[in-house]
Amino acid sequence: MKRFVTFEGIDGSGKSTISKGVYEKLKKEGYDAILTFEPTDTELGKIVKKCIEENYDPVVTTFAFIADRIQHVGEIKKWVKDNKIVLCDRYADSTYAYQAVQLEDIIENPIKWLKELHDRFIIKPELTFLCVLDVDKALGRIKNREKLVSFERKEFLEKVQKNYLHLASLERERFVMIDASKSVNKIVDECMVKILER
Ligand code: TMP
Repeated sequence: MKRFVTFEGIDGSGKSTISKGVYEKLKKEGYDAILTFEPTDTELGKIVKKCIEENYDPVVTTFAFIADRIQHVGEIKKWVKDNKIVLCDRYADSTYAYQAVQLEDIIENPIKWLKELHDRFIIKPELTFLCVLDVDKALGRIKNREKLVSFERKEFLEKVQKNYLHLASLERERFVMIDASKSVNKIVDECMVKILER
């Protein structure tokens, strides 16, 4: 069974619905699971949201995401130690995929730089579900959201998705690709099998 599982994908890919569905199913089947997310709902998470909504400098935004994550990792480690199954809706791969796009003209090889920044401070997920959906479809799903942030543009999300696929190609053991156009129930069942297998 996996103890630390993350859900990744572009905005509108459905990962929040999927992670919630998996969480509910695990609980229903009697597992001690916890569902958490990033950016968190702490004071640090609020700063992160401000950075996104008010288009702060990309380097500042990057460090805000990392600060929020390092604090969160402390909690995640405790939950894992308590033998819970920790499901996290977005984690370090979000920073590698999104901030690498923001930093593409500022830092050489931003994914490598971001990974090195994280290395000492985070724990690695055992399993990462990457929800893959066509960018137009994903944008169609979120077009009615109240507040669209600057990341939710086609050109930007195309690059984010490309980064995600690249990250997955580097770690085929950890990443499980999910065809997010399938029904939520089917996807949830697929995730359950992967989480519960040895
Ligand atoms: P959310 O919609 O999943 O709550 O995430 C808010 C936005 O923040 C979303 O557009 C993805 C973005 N994001 C990053 O750019 N980097 C990160 O590390 C995380 C966790 C989220």
